[in-house]
Amino acid sequence: MPERWSAPAPAKVNLVLEVTGRREDGYHEIDTVLQTLQLADTVTVSAAQAPRLGVSGPFASGTPLDGSNLALRAAEALANRCGRNFPCSVELVKDIPPAGGLGGGASDAATVLRLLQRAWPGTTDADLLAAAAEVGSDEPALVLGGTVRARGRGEVAEPLGSLPPHGVVLFIPPATIERKTARMFAALDALPSDDGAVAAAFAARLPAAMTSADVHNSFERVAFDLFPGLAPLWEALEARIGEPVRLAGAGPTLFWIGPESRAPAVASAAAGLACSVVETATAGSLWRP
Ligand code: C5P
Repeated sequence: MPERWSAPAPAKVNLVLEVTGRREDGYHEIDTVLQTLQLADTVTVSAAQAPRLGVSGPFASGTPLDGSNLALRAAEALANRCGRNFPCSVELVKDIPPAGGLGGGASDAATVLRLLQRAWPGTTDADLLAAAAEVGSDEPALVLGGTVRARGRGEVAEPLGSLPPHGVVLFIPPATIERKTARMFAALDALPSDDGAVAAAFAARLPAAMTSADVHNSFERVAFDLFPGLAPLWEALEARIGEPVRLAGAGPTLFWIGPESRAPAVASAAAGLACSVVETATAGSLWRP
């Protein structure tokens, strides 16, 4: 039996993100459709004497190496739930830019859970989803992967059929803001809530061929105010591409989605603007049909 298990941990974008209310616990109810991408970190889990985390790759800096790391917390949550000895070594190769709304940290944690499921026979999907929900809001949807609807504070994840392959181009601004996600949700409190109708319609019938115009993200209502410099970048991208671009999750990354054949031209159109450009594509789940 192998002693090391390895898999990609994909980035995600939200194709729909509605914020449908505020909860007693300070969190918000959301209704979202996530889509995983080919852009991915690589996660390796192996047996160890004591919990250990190693991080390398282009975006290694900024990844916490202590017990606050979501990947280690996920391993600990699953071990506690399944009555297993926790010690394991987790190696992350970080190719997903951090803190941009692309879900890299949450996806690393979700992939650790999937790999421990291989290492610990008898671990069920229900165990994984429960451990994932303990660690964060996006983690259960990323345990499923592919195209997923998520409700509650994000932890109630429902797998959808697969969106056909699409090209995706990410435009990543150089800086984000402190406590981004909490501030984005708080800013929306001043505005009327969504009713979830867009997410429901999208989930009921996934589009065969979508463009950025089909993407809906309520955080766009407050993103211009909160991220300095985002508005001119957004306008310049849309002018050059001749199509809308959309906010990824809670931002500040922007993205385009459309036919795979058009993605190289869209990526080239952004040359010279104040952002990193990553050309990628949608990806089906690694873990379910
Ligand atoms: O899930 P995560 O830890 O990234 O969330 C960061 C913050 O965003 C939370 O502390 C909370 O203030 C806010 N949040 C929320 N509703 C959600 C998810 C996050 O209000 N569904």
